[in-house]
Order: sequence, then structure tokens, then C-alpha cells
Amino acid sequence: MKNILVIGSTGQIGSELTRVLRARYGGSHVVAGYIVGAEPKGDLLEGGPAAIADVTDGQHIADVVREYKIDTIYNLAALLSVVAESRPRLAWKIGIDGLWKVLEVAREHQCAVFTPSSIGSFGLDTPHDNTPQDTIQRPRTIYGISKVTTELLSDYYHLKYGVDTRSVRFPGIISYMTPPGGGTTDYAVDIYYSAVRGQKFQCPIAKGTLMDMMYMPDALKAAIHIMEADGSRLVHHNGFNVASMSFDPETIFQAIKRHCPEFEMEYQVDPLRQSIADSWPNKMDDSCARREWDWSPDYDLESMTVDMLKNLRARLL
Ligand code: SER
Repeated sequence: MKNILVIGSTGQIGSELTRVLRARYGGSHVVAGYIVGAEPKGDLLEGGPAAIADVTDGQHIADVVREYKIDTIYNLAALLSVVAESRPRLAWKIGIDGLWKVLEVAREHQCAVFTPSSIGSFGLDTPHDNTPQDTIQRPRTIYGISKVTTELLSDYYHLKYGVDTRSVRFPGIISYMTPPGGGTTDYAVDIYYSAVRGQKFQCPIAKGTLMDMMYMPDALKAAIHIMEADGSRLVHHNGFNVASMSFDPETIFQAIKRHCPEFEMEYQVDPLRQSIADSWPNKMDDSCARREWDWSPDYDLESMTVDMLKNLRARLL
């Protein structure tokens, strides 16, 4: 990776990935791609070049790729699972039509491409415990359908045209910087905000609902390491399971309460979020990623909780 374009650089993952890539590859080598209405600000704007890069406009992306001699594209444009259910056509337009445009640009300009998949690519028929790398994927959400298609289309461009596409299936991602919007796993971020603000947390996910989660530094590490990995070792290319922790609402609540003894939570289960969560794995088996490109996470629930509380207190109090 010499010159990198991050599409969606002001989003939940993109905003932090752009900063970390700039620290690693040099500010001038990482272009913050954005859409009108979500412009980069502050250090994201000042730390390197920024350009409009809308996945619905392939010509624009091609222009940016040419201008900055881009060889790697991180395509992070997406709607999360809950919001996608209310705007399915838009979710498809961004997730699939947009991906097609990115892959076409990559084919013409010999770029490598990372487009994340997710735990959302699985469905009710998928084995929920130690979900294998290669297994049944029959999601019933438009988010999941677009993620399965992302994996397949990315593999297709790799096999048919030799485009170096690589990706992981992200768990719910937890961070104290840019909040997520409209995801099923968002509760695991929101709960820390309530704890730090001294508010009782209304949990939209039922007790006992296990989902894979990951602290942002590990998610960024996965996104960078897979693109830096020795391609000759890869058997899979797209949709690697990556895992670091799995918990239910009660377990994260107790982990926070150990540091905030006054903290309280009550359940107000949201039927849409719950039905989506019930269709996702309890815990993925990530041994393929460990074997093929040495994936290993740094954070567990306790170390993430300590870091989240410290940073959110510094920001909010
Ligand atoms: N965080 C995503 C969501 O909840 C799952 O990958 O939609």
C-alpha cells in the first residue's frame, strides 16, 4: 500500500482508520474520501488530502484514483443493519451498486480493495456457536444480503479479473470516537455513554443474547494486517471471520458496573433489533484468519472497558 483512498472517511470506522493509516504510511499518502454533507473536519482535514469520493459516482472515484495514484481502496461506505431495513433500496445502491463501481475502478487501475463484511452476513440457519469460516449464509436482512453479495462479488473480481480483494467479517465495533448509527450492536457502545454520564441504560437487546464484538483498535489492526498480508498464504480472500470477544448485555453491564458501582440498566427490548441479533452468531470461529494471516486481537472485555471508560470520561466530563 503506497497511496490509499478511504471511501467513507468520516464514518464510524473510516474516521479512525484514516488517522491510523496516515500515522503508518504518511499523511500525504492517505486520501480521506467523503460525500457532500459529511465533510472531514479538524485533523482529518488537515492531516492529508481529502476528496469527494461517492460510491454512487464511479467516474468521480476514478478521477481521485488517477489524481492521487491510488493503489489501495478501503471501501467503507455502508448503511448499518437497522437503518438499512428502513431504506433497503438505498442500502443496495450503496452496498452493491457502489461496490460494483469501486471494483470496476480497481480493475481498470490495478488497485487492491478492502470492503468489510460482517456478522450480519449470517442467518438463522447458520451454526451459532463457533460459526465456521465456510458455512450456511442465508441472512434475511437487506444488510446481510448486501454483505453476502459483497463477499461473493469481491471473490468474483479476484478470480475473474485478478483484482486483489480482501476482507473480514467484522463483529460489532466499539469505540469512543465516532459513534455508530443504526446498527444492531450499537447498544454495546451506547451503554458506555450512559455509564459515564451517570444515566440508567435502557437496553434494546434481551438478556442472554450473545454477539461477537470487537474494540476499534483491533478492528483497525485487522483491516490493515489483512491488506499487508503475504498473498501467497491466503486460501480465502473475502469474508474472514475475525473475533475477539463475545458477550450478552448482562455480561457487559457487569463489566462496567465493576468500575461504576452506581450504574443501572433495564431492558426495553426492541423487536427489530432483537430479531436481527437472534439471527447472528453467538461466537465466530476465526481460526482461518489466525492461520492464513496471523490474526490475533489485543483486547478483551475487561481491557476494552478500562480504556473506553478512561477515554469517554476525558471526553464527556
Ligand atoms: N455493527 C453492525 C450492525 O449492527 C454489524 O456488523 O449493523
